[in-house]
Amino acid sequence: MRLAVILGFTALALGSNALYTKQSRKFPEGFVFGTATASYQIEGAWNEDGKSENIWDHITHNKPHVIADQSNGDITADSYHKYKRDVEMMRELGLDAYRFSLSWSRILPSGFTNEINQAGVDFYNNYINEMIKYNIQPMISLYHWDLPQKLQELGGFANPLVVEWFEDYARVAYELFGDRVKDWITFNEPKEVCYHGYGATNLAPQLNSAGVGDYLCAKNLVIAHAKAYHAYNNDFKPSQGGRCGITIAVTSLEPLTDSDEDEAAAEMHRQAEWGLYAEPIFSEQGGFPKEFSERVAAKSKAQGYPRSRLPEFTEEEKAYVKGSADFFGINHYTSRLISANEYKGEHPVPSMYDDIDTGEFVPADWPTSASTWLFQAPNSLYNVLTHMHKRYSGPVLYVTENGWSTGEGLQDDERVQYYRAALEGALDALDEGVRLEKYMAWSLMDNFEWMRGYTERFGLYEVDFTSPERTRTPRKSALVYKHIVANRMIDHNYEPASLDITIDEGY
Ligand code: NOJ
Repeated sequence: MRLAVILGFTALALGSNALYTKQSRKFPEGFVFGTATASYQIEGAWNEDGKSENIWDHITHNKPHVIADQSNGDITADSYHKYKRDVEMMRELGLDAYRFSLSWSRILPSGFTNEINQAGVDFYNNYINEMIKYNIQPMISLYHWDLPQKLQELGGFANPLVVEWFEDYARVAYELFGDRVKDWITFNEPKEVCYHGYGATNLAPQLNSAGVGDYLCAKNLVIAHAKAYHAYNNDFKPSQGGRCGITIAVTSLEPLTDSDEDEAAAEMHRQAEWGLYAEPIFSEQGGFPKEFSERVAAKSKAQGYPRSRLPEFTEEEKAYVKGSADFFGINHYTSRLISANEYKGEHPVPSMYDDIDTGEFVPADWPTSASTWLFQAPNSLYNVLTHMHKRYSGPVLYVTENGWSTGEGLQDDERVQYYRAALEGALDALDEGVRLEKYMAWSLMDNFEWMRGYTERFGLYEVDFTSPERTRTPRKSALVYKHIVANRMIDHNYEPASLDITIDEGY
């Protein structure tokens, strides 16, 4: 990285070939480019053909006021009916792969495997087969936040039995689709599931059980992941030959200053934000992160709890979970600077943020997006990829999401700039030996952005949510991404002549 920057500056000093050094770097042979989406965010058809209610149907229908524009995913981009157009867009972009998720309640309406909904299975078979027809590798997330409501009513991820429910569901999916799907992601963004859904009210099911529910969820979810991994590894991988991993949201968390206190604070923050899910699976020692577990145990005791609010793993559980992933899926968007003493907010007691007790800072010169949480920090994808590489001794990494939000509109230069910078970071990390194999841009198209409804757009394609056809139109970023995918390199001088997009030979 440093070398590349120095070369970049040298080139700049040399004049017109200024960008040559960077432009000449290619992604390695076999590198996989794709885009990502999720079932509730794009499918619609919320109650069609036997699908049952999930927690997002439930919350959007029963508490519409909690969604920024009181919208829902009843129809959203209507991919349930428009899936052929989705695949056509993948071909227009020249993608190698596409990441999407299965709707548990579309396949198993009761939540359990007593009844398999054939219409739901047909939909996913059609979607997958359409991709395969055009050489696009499907990558499936089993769980992208839409738990069947009936399972939520039984406690959802706070109920330890969720590990069995999830394993049963995963086995059905491997059995049905594993002949064609070679990349399986058990969970998408566990912290967002557990912290935002169980520990706060930022996502369904809005349990707001801060510092208790989120930790119960964390333990159960990690074990559910391991169960689904072992099921694949033992009973499907030998014949199907694919991989199974997990996707964790990794924000780049750097110390505000180079003081030891700030470094320790940044590390505590990392352990809580994503270490809670990554350490049990990818670390040498296994189990929840050490300093953070000790902190929660001490705080719990001082607060009068009879045991730590963060349930420990047994030695047997630790061993079962450790190493249970063939790849580490990273969703990366943004960064924060962490301070031991400054910028501390008032956090509820107990809560995860009170447990870590650090301050967060965002410099004023980091570009801002349409989302309050999303800033563009220099080198953040590079920092995250190299950090994970070192911390976990070089696991296979996939970037399973990376993206930028804007309002409506097709001229999305900020998104173009964000993707180019992030992909330069990926190249820098590859230069240093990081085992990054795949990169999925979030998102193929605009979709239902959870609590923000349709007010924030992440798509390479804009979706007209007012048209019955849910017309999809490429943005400038779609043309730029297509150019990167086709040439396997980033041409910073490329300006699409128009926003017309066509399918190139071979797709
Ligand atoms: C990560 C989530 O996986 C996805 O569902 C969401 O839309 C993006 N972040 C953007 O917020």
